[in-house]
Amino acid sequence: MRTIDWADGTVRIIDQTRLPAELVGIDVGEVDELVVHIRSLAVRGAPALGVAGALGMALAAYRSAESGGDLDADLAVAADKLSQARPTAVNLSWGVEQLRAARAAGAGAEQLLAAALAIRDADIEINQALSDRGAQLLAGSRRVLTHCNAGALACVEFGTALGVIERLHAAAPLEMVYVCETRPLLQGSRLTAWELGQRGIPHRIIADSAAAGLMLGGQVQAVVVGADRIAANGDVANKVGTVSHALAASYAGLPFVVAAPESTIDPGTESGAEISIELRDAEEVLALAGRRVAAPGSSGWNPAFDVTPAALVTAIVTERRTIDGRACELRPEVVLAGDAGLATAG
Ligand code: MRU
Repeated sequence: MRTIDWADGTVRIIDQTRLPAELVGIDVGEVDELVVHIRSLAVRGAPALGVAGALGMALAAYRSAESGGDLDADLAVAADKLSQARPTAVNLSWGVEQLRAARAAGAGAEQLLAAALAIRDADIEINQALSDRGAQLLAGSRRVLTHCNAGALACVEFGTALGVIERLHAAAPLEMVYVCETRPLLQGSRLTAWELGQRGIPHRIIADSAAAGLMLGGQVQAVVVGADRIAANGDVANKVGTVSHALAASYAGLPFVVAAPESTIDPGTESGAEISIELRDAEEVLALAGRRVAAPGSSGWNPAFDVTPAALVTAIVTERRTIDGRACELRPEVVLAGDAGLATAG
């Protein structure tokens, strides 16, 4: 079952809030409903959100055609709602913009759906390509650490960081994947561990706070994570906690690799300081599995993402290139100008 797909005039998603207890799909028939599922993280992860943006626009066009509505007006409303559903992953607004551009070029409802389906299909090939590249870069690493979920569940059916891990394991069996549980919503222990278990890849879940000690203790050879937005200077926004792992990896002298499609790179955002970080309900931090555990009267702060400075990133691996994050920081003017002039991590 794909994480997100089109089925009988609806957007079909896996409800990730119910994993790993049950694997259940939801057929989403309205854009407003899709926005609710994006906010609740029923569908989540940057590449999957890109496809959600595109399929959401196709859904709006489909419903508009059915009801004889004004297609452009309906698409404008849908574009606003979808783009604003979550602010950090640039893929969401990227997916919406791809469909807006198709409409501007004259596409009707059927062609808009075809454009969205092409984005869905491309996601699989793109992630396989970047995963091959990432696995080549990290060949020889047998004990790796990852944070959050950048697997098939964050994409259509093949992951980014977890795609790299899968490819590494296929080349030579991994000794261990250390999976950070990823407080507060546990994408690591609920989703990444589930995916690795399904693929028979050895893994251990650790508390996020155990990662630095593990790295300094020599038990990890590389860290690989996904990204929600990469600024033009190479700064990387990803799930909160990522920057702590990057700092520890840097101190321990370990490669810290970011695996992400080109659509996660946002040339319009100069540096990480400009990235809007989603602030979620503090209750998510004050509670565990829906039950309040914090001291009565205490308040919380719950940013969903943090920014890792480019200087801490050994390499950003996309489907087209390998970018040396540290070179980005030093030479911002050459970043994203194409392969020429970019240092390639090896
Ligand atoms: O809040 P989430 O679960 O959507 O956050 C997801 C992440 O931070 C992932 O690491 C990122 O989107 C990359 S997914 C290939």
